[in-house]
Amino acid sequence: MPKKKQKKKVFITRKIPETSTKLLTKAGYEVESFKYSNKKITRRQLLKKVRGCTAILSLLTERIDGEVMDAAGDQLKVVSNYAVGFDNINLQDAKDRGIKVGNTPCQEVNDAVSEMAMTFVMTLARQINQADKFTKAGKYKTWDPLLMIGHSLVGKTLGIIGLGRIGSGLAERAAEGFGLKILYHDIKRDKNFEKKYKAVYKSKTDLLKQSDFVSLHVPLLESTRHLISKKELKAMKKTAYLINTSRGPVVDELELNKALLNGDIAGAAIDVYECEPHIDCNPNDTYSLKRLDTIIMTPHIASATIEAREKMAELAAKNIINGVKGVKMPSQVKPKK
Ligand code: DGY
Repeated sequence: MPKKKQKKKVFITRKIPETSTKLLTKAGYEVESFKYSNKKITRRQLLKKVRGCTAILSLLTERIDGEVMDAAGDQLKVVSNYAVGFDNINLQDAKDRGIKVGNTPCQEVNDAVSEMAMTFVMTLARQINQADKFTKAGKYKTWDPLLMIGHSLVGKTLGIIGLGRIGSGLAERAAEGFGLKILYHDIKRDKNFEKKYKAVYKSKTDLLKQSDFVSLHVPLLESTRHLISKKELKAMKKTAYLINTSRGPVVDELELNKALLNGDIAGAAIDVYECEPHIDCNPNDTYSLKRLDTIIMTPHIASATIEAREKMAELAAKNIINGVKGVKMPSQVKPKK
């Protein structure tokens, strides 16, 4: 009897939309997935489960480094991250082992995250979180002409730090939909963008000084860690708001906490955390973001739309199928130089 050809294995580190499993199974893979979407796999389980895999479909919550790659074995060809960001993957370790890395940037994620950032701008401007609490607490007794007066967005200034696809998606919505003036800062200028949205390029400090809302759209790199810390928060207007839907460590959370307490800025809305999933890095600290009314906090859901999640699942699977075959992946992360 001829020996049955062994199927190539993929391990998915979290329950994600079925699309990935369907596509991979159709392409002849044996797929195993961690059972839960709301629970993180332990390091020990992860090291065990990846053994013998040709590809790992990982989430941003898993640190994928040389240890995991070696635990998988020499046949590991692709690490496909179910996220746009890939700061959880050690690119040097992947390069050293000849392993390709994929991620999932797509229009659907751009839309979802820029819509979320825009939602934060609107929610902050009109104190929707406080209004919701107030009403549910039975405090609405009579129409009050002086109650919760917010800001109109027309003519206000939005400063965007990081002009990638999501940053420019936000600019489009803010400028064309709401009449906000756009300032931006990035490592390079984009003259077409400036023309299209009447956007003005600024140094980081000038942008912080002049904006009513500052929204962060940079990847997490050594150079962007604590991009916003004490000095930057002090540079902002006392009436300004900070929005972070990028990665938690881009903002020095303790300094943000202090700035909010001191009234150095008016408020903030964040979807990501420095010590994610923990809200405060040091729970015993006297500073606690959770206790502040001036901050809106959401559980890393900026890309959580059906459209984005489905497309991410499709891309993550296709990155594996193509990467293993040695053909162009829909989105390959550039290997480290
Ligand atoms: C990303 O894609 O990097 C988001 O943070 C999670 O979808």
